[in-house]
Amino acid sequence: MPFDTEDYKLRSKPVQYSDLDFEAFEREPLSPETLRSVQYMCDVEYHTVCYLRDMLVTPSHRDADVTTFMTMWNMEEFWHGAALAEVLKRHGIQADYGHIRFVRKRVGWKDKLDPIKHTLLANFAGQDYVAVHMAWGAVNEWSAIAAYNRLADIAGHSVLAQLLRRIAKQETRHVAFYATQARKRLAIGRKAQKLARFALERFWGPVGSGLMPEPEVRHVLRYVMRGEAGYAAARKVDESIARLPGMAGLKIVERSLIARDVPAT
Ligand SMILES: [Fe+2]
Ligand SMILES: [Fe+2]
Repeated sequence: MPFDTEDYKLRSKPVQYSDLDFEAFEREPLSPETLRSVQYMCDVEYHTVCYLRDMLVTPSHRDADVTTFMTMWNMEEFWHGAALAEVLKRHGIQADYGHIRFVRKRVGWKDKLDPIKHTLLANFAGQDYVAVHMAWGAVNEWSAIAAYNRLADIAGHSVLAQLLRRIAKQETRHVAFYATQARKRLAIGRKAQKLARFALERFWGPVGSGLMPEPEVRHVLRYVMRGEAGYAAARKVDESIARLPGMAGLKIVERSLIARDVPAT
């Protein structure tokens, strides 16, 4: 079914968590491994607005369908960050604006270069850059769904699991937009397909890997995506990617686990 941006615009809202029993985190705190993963996800969600900045310097900003979606999408991702920050707060960890500033400063010169890099690449690719952006977005949203559902399964905490599944449900709407757009734009021609395939194969990394320190990336992948169930979830994402026009055979998500020695059993 095609994605209805008008309907999404009207229905988009912050993830609800006021009805969840967050006091439970004080009675029954999360494990240090789970908290470290929640911190990672919180930081990455809050960073979405910086990624939005990078995308708005490309031809994507001319497409009203894309910018309408991204306006609401950015708001929803912000609230994912806020909900996870509340979980951290219940454990005495501050993920406040001071922390967000710290995370953004830590990116350093790369953060300054990113908008320039995207402007230059988009200048070279033209309209096909939007197809790459949409395919990239679909991969990241599929990956986010897999990671949230895995963490909900393994953390052994019913309140956290409820929150993560609500977040994952919103991520499925995000994926519906990106995948619909990617299918349409990649179907136009081989050039867009080649460019997207090249970009994903060469430059894609797990969500947050350009932002978070490598030990944190490794921790999340090893903790959340390990074992048969983790690899099965990664392969499912790869299968979804492979169904996009011109992406057959790509296995970038499973490859990212193998590259970081994530145990398969
Ligand atoms: Fe999110
Ligand atoms: Fe998302």
